Amino acid sequence: MRKSWLFVALLMSASCVLAQDLKPIPLPQPQTDGGRPLMQVLKERKTTREFAANKLPAQLLSNLLWAAFGVNRPDGRRTAPSAMNWQEMDIYVATSDGLFLYDAKGNRLEAVLAQDLRAATGTQPFVATAPLDLVYVADLSKTGSGPDAEVYTATDAGFVAQNVYLFCASEGLATVVRGSIDRAALAKAMKLRPEQKIILAQTVGYPKK
Ligand SMILES: Cc1cc2nc3c(=O)[nH]c(=O)nc-3n(C[C@H](O)[C@H](O)[C@H](O)COP(=O)(O)O)c2cc1C
Repeated sequence: MRKSWLFVALLMSASCVLAQDLKPIPLPQPQTDGGRPLMQVLKERKTTREFAANKLPAQLLSNLLWAAFGVNRPDGRRTAPSAMNWQEMDIYVATSDGLFLYDAKGNRLEAVLAQDLRAATGTQPFVATAPLDLVYVADLSKTGSGPDAEVYTATDAGFVAQNVYLFCASEGLATVVRGSIDRAALAKAMKLRPEQKIILAQTVGYPKK
């Protein structure tokens, strides 16, 4: 009995150390002036499912996350609309280094887990090796509980995903938005709270040559 308690205590302290090892990562200021003309970007928006393994540099990641759902006005409103301005969509960032949460206001990545969860973010093989899997998670504590909440959260995720599609088209990156996810398994792996609901995931990386 005492031995098993000792084992549990050791396991818990090991996971605490891992979580503490992951510090919040400040992101460079997003560069919000560049980009290609909108009509050209719309012409080139597309889904790609083959990715090179190269990591995205911090500046590009910052720009990408800002385009996705960053703060674009002094009142704290965002680059994507959200029903009733709920701003309920959290963007989790799964990389080989761990799982992070995009803090749009603080322009940084909060460390969530020191585990590579990329493979768990979808059912297709490329998700495990692409450099970045974004997971769009609605925080239902920020939404109304009426019948429209489900439609609205799905719609809100779509806007974020399209922002990412357009950013990727502008930057020559590859991306695919994904609904094919084992949501129960992923929620468990991400240690989500019961009021958090996974809506979609989106893989981003450099196109495979
Ligand atoms: C809500 C939604 C879910 C999707 N889920 C997946 C998916 O799980 N896996 C995948 O490879 N593509 C997925 N796609 C991408 C579509 O297959 C793709 O957008 C479609 O084939 C049209 O191609 P295009 O984006 O190049 O125009 C999804 C797209 C949407 C909008």
